[in-house]
Amino acid sequence: MRLTRPLLALLALTVLAAAGGGVVIRKGPLPVEADWHARAQAWFDSADEKARKQQMRAAGRALKQPCKYCHTKTFDGYTDKLDISRQMLALSAEHQVGCDDCHSGKVEYTELGVVAGAMWQISREQKVFCDHCHVKGARFEKLTKEGDAFQPEWAQRKAALLKAVVEAQPASTPAEPAAP
Ligand code: HEC
Ligand code: HEC
Ligand code: HEC
Repeated sequence: MRLTRPLLALLALTVLAAAGGGVVIRKGPLPVEADWHARAQAWFDSADEKARKQQMRAAGRALKQPCKYCHTKTFDGYTDKLDISRQMLALSAEHQVGCDDCHSGKVEYTELGVVAGAMWQISREQKVFCDHCHVKGARFEKLTKEGDAFQPEWAQRKAALLKAVVEAQPASTPAEPAAP
């Protein structure tokens, strides 16, 4: 589902009461150090170069970004999007979700993506990654015992965190052609 303007407004309304303030969602440090290259590799369904490119193309489409958003022109290196993209590939593979389950263009997120934005903030605070609280392979539908233990705090902070994510979203840009 797309996070359209009316939905944004609705979200903002429902969270207005609990305006916590001061929560910065984007552009913070990454939650945790790990072998992100290895974890990102698990996202690829195949070792075949052609199949890998195909899968990458779909990822680029979800973000409406070309290859050079993350790769250098000659494909011998990466841009500054490497670290976050690796973590994105890793969480997508580990939790069996697609980029388009959360991303719906360059700056827009789906509803699930907005919740994930709040989760990203929590992960940073606790210096853990998603699998600390979410059972792998279960599309974020099953919590670990650490996740269960976090439920009361989430219930308390949910409104403020979601509000901060929504506010962090830049205004919609006009649709652009999909990545090649
Ligand atoms: C959002 C960022 C992003 C975009 C856009 C993107 N890639 Fe990637 N790509 C990555 C990351 C991250 C990796 C994995 C890096 C690692 O292994 O640590 C990767 C890996 C690859 C690999 C596998 C390299 C290997 O190890 O075998 C190929 C091939 C590839 N990309 C091609 C493409 C092509 C072609 C496009 C455009 C259609 C594209 N990528 C778009 C981030 C991106
Ligand atoms: C579970 C939801 C979710 C999934 C699945 C997901 N993302 Fe993300 N992504 C997010 C959120 C939330 C952010 C913002 C993180 C932050 O607050 O810094 C983000 C940020 C990013 C960014 C950095 C934003 C930017 O453009 O500078 C890139 C690149 C990205 N995602 C690529 C991907 C790719 C590629 C995939 C699929 C392999 C993917 N994401 C899958 C939720 C998701
Ligand atoms: C400290 C524990 C904790 C961490 C870390 C955590 N989560 Fe969560 N997550 C939760 C709890 C608790 C819920 C609420 C579950 C519920 O409502 O029953 C939740 C809900 C979600 C949901 C909504 C599921 C749905 O179907 O509505 C998504 C998506 C999600 N988390 C993604 C992530 C991502 C992505 C990460 C890593 C960046 C992450 N979470 C890290 C505890 C955590």
